[in-house]
Amino acid sequence: MRTFLYSGLGTVLVAGAVLAPGNIATAAESPDISVTNTKAHLDQFQSIATGNGGNRAAGRPGYKASADWVKAKLDAAGYTTTLQSFPTWAGTSYNVIAEWPHGDANHVVMAGSHLDSVSAGPGINDNGSGSAGVLETALAYAASGQTPRNRLRFGFWGAEELGLVGSRYYVNNLPTAERDKLKLYLNFDMIASPNPGYFVYDDNPAGNGARDDLVAYFTQQNVQTEFIDVQGRSDHAAFRALGIPTAGTFAGAEETKTSAQAAKWGGTAGQAFDRCYHRSCDTISNLDLTSLDHQIDAIGHMIWTYTQKDYTAS
Ligand code: PHE
Ligand code: CA
Ligand code: ZN
Ligand code: ZN
Repeated sequence: MRTFLYSGLGTVLVAGAVLAPGNIATAAESPDISVTNTKAHLDQFQSIATGNGGNRAAGRPGYKASADWVKAKLDAAGYTTTLQSFPTWAGTSYNVIAEWPHGDANHVVMAGSHLDSVSAGPGINDNGSGSAGVLETALAYAASGQTPRNRLRFGFWGAEELGLVGSRYYVNNLPTAERDKLKLYLNFDMIASPNPGYFVYDDNPAGNGARDDLVAYFTQQNVQTEFIDVQGRSDHAAFRALGIPTAGTFAGAEETKTSAQAAKWGGTAGQAFDRCYHRSCDTISNLDLTSLDHQIDAIGHMIWTYTQKDYTAS
C-alpha cells in the first residue's frame, strides 16, 4: 500500500508527499487499489442479482447484465474489449476480455476471475470479489498514466461454475502464436471470505516466481500466507495445462479454519472460511473488507510489477 508515482510527465504525484525531481519511484511501486471503489463494484453486482431473480448464473439474465456492465466500465476507461460468446448446457454464456492497447504485444501479462455465480445466490464473495478486484485494478492501471513495457490483458470468465467452461473456451480458441505470447496468468477467485484465510496457489511450478512474489508482498504487509494446492479448481487450470506460468490467491471456501489459522489470521476457528459458499446468503453482507483490501493491493502489486518485467531475454 505504498504511494506510487508515474513518470513521463515530469514529476507526477498520485498520492502522498512531494518528491524532488530525480527521486521518482519506479513504475513497479505498489499501488493502493481502492477498497471503496471495489466495494462499489460489489454493490453493483448485488443489485444486478437482486434485479434478475437473485443470481448471476451462466445462462441467466443476471450473468449477461454483469458482463455488459463490466465491459462498459472497461470500454469507458480506454480498454479494447471483446464479448466472447460460447455454448454451455445452460445456454449461451460470455467471457469479457479487455486489453490495454499499449506495450509490447508479444509479451502479454494477464489477470482474470470468473464473473458467474451459482444459481443459488448472487455470488458476491464467489466470485464478485475477484471480479470487482480485477476490474478495479484494471481501471486504476488505466488511470495511472504509466507507460507499460508489456501488454496487459484481463479476463472475466463465464460459466466457471459449470466446470471452468469459459476459461477453457478462451484458451482452446487462442491460436498457438497467441498462446506463446502469454507470459503469466494470475487468477482471483474468492478473495473476501468473511472468515478469511490468505492462501497462495501452489499448483504450478512454472508459476513459482509469481507465487513467491505474492508471498513476499503479503509478508511485507505483515500478512502471513499458506500455500494451497487448489487442484485445478479454478480458471488458471486451462492456462496451466498449456505450460503457461500461473499464480493466484484465495481466502477460503467451505473448509474449516483451524485454531492455528485463527491464531495467525484472526476470525473463528472451527468455522468455514465462507459459510455461505454456493448458498443464497453469499450476498453483499458476506464479505471481509480488510481481507479484500489486502487482496486487491496484492493484485495491484503483481500487475504493476509484471507489466514492467523484461521478458525480451526469454
Ligand atoms: N473455484 C471454486 C468455485 O468457484 C472455488 C475455489 C477457488 C476453490 C479457488 C479452490 C480454489 O466454487
Ligand atoms: Ca487498498
Ligand atoms: Zn463457486
Ligand atoms: Zn469461484
